Amino acid sequence: MKLDNILVLGGSGFVGRHLVAALAAEGLRLTVPTRRRERAKHLLPLPTVDVVDADIMAPGTLEALAHGKQAVVNLVGILHGDFERAHVQLPRAVVAACRAGGAKRLIHMSALGASSAAPSQYLRSKALGERVVLDAADLAVTVFRPSVIFGPEDAFLNTFACLARYFFVLPIACPQARFQPVYVGDVARAMSRALDDPESRGKVYELAGTQEYSLRELVELVCAITGRERLVVGLPGRLGSLQAFVMEKLPGRLITRDNLRSMQVPNVAAGPFPFGIQPQALEALAPAYLAPIGPRERYPQLRWRARR
Ligand SMILES: NC(=O)c1ccc[n+]([C@@H]2O[C@H](COP(=O)([O-])OP(=O)(O)OC[C@H]3O[C@@H](n4cnc5c(N)ncnc54)[C@H](OP(=O)(O)O)[C@@H]3O)[C@@H](O)[C@H]2O)c1
Repeated sequence: MKLDNILVLGGSGFVGRHLVAALAAEGLRLTVPTRRRERAKHLLPLPTVDVVDADIMAPGTLEALAHGKQAVVNLVGILHGDFERAHVQLPRAVVAACRAGGAKRLIHMSALGASSAAPSQYLRSKALGERVVLDAADLAVTVFRPSVIFGPEDAFLNTFACLARYFFVLPIACPQARFQPVYVGDVARAMSRALDDPESRGKVYELAGTQEYSLRELVELVCAITGRERLVVGLPGRLGSLQAFVMEKLPGRLITRDNLRSMQVPNVAAGPFPFGIQPQALEALAPAYLAPIGPRERYPQLRWRARR
């Protein structure tokens, strides 16, 4: 049976906008709560999407939102802040809300490298969140673990492109860190396929792109795509930690020491992309949104990154 009437938590975010668009294109009815409607305004024109002003952490809100839904997708995740609350307590509350509201299907977004033995709080809390949802034996749960995700609104390649615009020397911590970036559209396709695939129940899927890169290679690739000749300098361990220590005190928290600890684990997949989907290559897609363009064309990207 085709599932319909789906609650998408975190649907206003980077992955959410692509997943919601993909599901809405199939005519599915979706509810997307947001703390700031302005942030979800790109979803407002979609006819089957109901954007609701709500703080899903507030008591009783999730239960009310999940009531009568057939499925819940949880995309909420943070890179710094209260990991326990966002990655463990929220999934627990989502499971409870599914049970109370009658939703039998739960799709949960984790991260590649999630493990109780991981060096970072981010990855350990993601592992705890996975445990919480997979232990809910009465629900049909599927977990996704993507590597770093790229796409027009990403906070990864776009950040390096932005830094390369203003600085001639780019000092990066953990230059040897390994990533296998995956296209946001492929992530959305995999999640959408899983929704109706009974085989995916109880499974954990890793999502990664066509190729592995070191962080240095990725930064150099961004410089090449944007046509900026920049000196990329790898910072040795202690200097990298010092940089992260300073950055985590600044607004925007470009990088934290916990992020550096996550980068100690290779962010690469053990197997092929699931559901027979052929993932798309970074080199084929990233130039379309990273290559320098005029201010008018850049305006939507700038607004998205400024969260306006
Ligand atoms: N992007 C990546 O490279 C990447 C890689 C691996 C895993 N992931 C995982 O994929 C998921 C989606 O990532 P994303 O890049 O789409 O994230 P994002 O752009 O930051 O979106 C996260 C969404 O969660 C919602 N949210 C609701 N309550 C929140 C709270 N208390 N704190 C923080 N956010 C809250 C936010 O909605 P409102 O602000 O509208 O309320 C926001 O739209 C996350 O679980 C992330 O950990 C992402």
